Amino acid sequence: RAHLANVLTEVTGVDKNIIYPALSWTQSLDKGDLVLAAPALRLPKGGPKPDQIVQDWAAKFPENDPLFEKPHVHSYFMSFFFKGAPLVNSILPTILQKGKTFGTNPSLGLKDPKEPSAGRKKIIVEFSSPNIAKPFHAGHLRSTIIGGFLGNLYEGAGWDVTRINYLGDWGKQYGLLALAFEKFGDEKALEQDPINHLFQLYVRINTEMTEEKEQIAKRKEAGEDVTEAEANSLDEQARRYFKKMTDRDEKALAMWKKFRDLSIVRYKQTYARLNIHFDEYSGESQVSEADMADIGKQLEEKKISKEDNGAQLIDFSELVPGKEGKRLEKPLVRKRDGTALYLTRDISELLARHAKYNFDKMIYVVASAQDLHLKQLFKIIELLGHKDIADKCQHINFGLVLGMSTRKGTVKFLDDILRDVADKMHETMRKNEDKYNQVENPDAVADVLGISSVMVQDMTGKRINNYTFNMDQMTSFEGDTGPYLQYAHARVCSIKRKAGLSDEEIASADFSLLTEAHAVNIVRLLAQWPDVFSNTLRTLEPTTVLAYLFKMTHALSSSYDVLRIMGSEPAVLKARMALYEAAHIVLGNGMRLLGLSPVERM
Ligand code: ARG
Repeated sequence: RAHLANVLTEVTGVDKNIIYPALSWTQSLDKGDLVLAAPALRLPKGGPKPDQIVQDWAAKFPENDPLFEKPHVHSYFMSFFFKGAPLVNSILPTILQKGKTFGTNPSLGLKDPKEPSAGRKKIIVEFSSPNIAKPFHAGHLRSTIIGGFLGNLYEGAGWDVTRINYLGDWGKQYGLLALAFEKFGDEKALEQDPINHLFQLYVRINTEMTEEKEQIAKRKEAGEDVTEAEANSLDEQARRYFKKMTDRDEKALAMWKKFRDLSIVRYKQTYARLNIHFDEYSGESQVSEADMADIGKQLEEKKISKEDNGAQLIDFSELVPGKEGKRLEKPLVRKRDGTALYLTRDISELLARHAKYNFDKMIYVVASAQDLHLKQLFKIIELLGHKDIADKCQHINFGLVLGMSTRKGTVKFLDDILRDVADKMHETMRKNEDKYNQVENPDAVADVLGISSVMVQDMTGKRINNYTFNMDQMTSFEGDTGPYLQYAHARVCSIKRKAGLSDEEIASADFSLLTEAHAVNIVRLLAQWPDVFSNTLRTLEPTTVLAYLFKMTHALSSSYDVLRIMGSEPAVLKARMALYEAAHIVLGNGMRLLGLSPVERM
């Protein structure tokens, strides 16, 4: 597409940025490979008519272009067909050579992430951000999957990526949790499974607290004096505990820090299963109180916030004209007792990150339930006089996962979910005994397949759509699922094993032997990869990549009977193997870009 846009710019003098968006890949071979729709060109009004433009441009298109035939014209469309042999001869060697040297670089043909980082753009991707001691719920799973993918995407495009996990690790509930641990905690259980243990404590103390509140209310109603009961209530004790934490009481902080550290250790194990690492574990607790005090002062001085009953709030309807001001509502930035809020912390954290990293872009991967919160945040940064910084920030939102609702006591942690799915995959694998016996480490493979099931289901639709968590559907081999994608990858690997050719032999193939429609179709798809990649940088949707990979798997599976390896004469065998190997490389790179671990056998 880029090549065509360049050639057309050269012969017509029209800006490449006008031509490029009007070019698109076709869906089927008979309509050519790419098509240019003249009405999609944003040319100044009053010029020649669309059908004249295409006639004129087609006439100017060079006969001797290395990649494309002279275009066909019909009404106001121009269709471009690849010159078969040149396409095959240029795409396949490129992939066979560069796909390998770029290692895991998914972007193939773009920048190598191992190049020195000087001069690269800097991006912060904040994602996952669970709340310690609360379940890692579906929203965090989605943030983790999408954020992991976005990090890979920008890395592949040559950006310098910093991945930040902004933990929910501060607030009165952690005072309550520490209290719970003092009352009924178990040191050993905490070491062994901190996330579960902390969660159990959390549930237990919350239940007791609710009961206690009800009792006090009843006694109050009956006219009893409850002053003492209230002063000694769990709620009050938790508040005092948290107060000790904010006053930097060492003992109180030590307990909290232990919870936090142990939780991070466990998180890291889960993230490793998902091929994810973080460069920084930040969190609500890490925001500097001094910075927040300073920002509070600025907000008051600049008349952005105002006093309301001892608290500070921002009334956007007075600051931002029209509907937008109303829509932004009236968030609090400081409570009456002087404590900061979730929003206040985010303001401070954003500015601190900018000071620390001087980023060119920052992405927040957070559920769409927090759309308003992030709009408020970016607007406040702007009102504080940092429009330049606010403009660099982007909220990447996503919809809900349905069917995972957590009735009391049946909360599922991410780890449990992944284990259930892996068990299910293991069961399925066992059904095919012959194959099963050839798999070296079936447990590990089942684990990867389970994770792929969950991830592919998550990435199938657009981010903003809700979807229903459906274990049977996601683990099925029918349809465009994770196991099917892995199967397609493993199958192309097995063909290579059976053919027994070395990479050198494959690279020396005579590509011009690949003339069949099925072969050309696969090569056309391969040629689209760089374009799919740059499209994805625009959509920031995992589904853009996934849909492409499934197209590739379909093209492959319909080719195996036609483009046989076994029984073909050696030169043809070699050429077909080159085709399959190129597809294997692109498939594997695409899967790694999404955060999946491609399996070789299953
Ligand atoms: N911990 C938060 C939650 O679970 C998500 C944090 C999102 N990031 C942020 N900078 N506010 O809801």
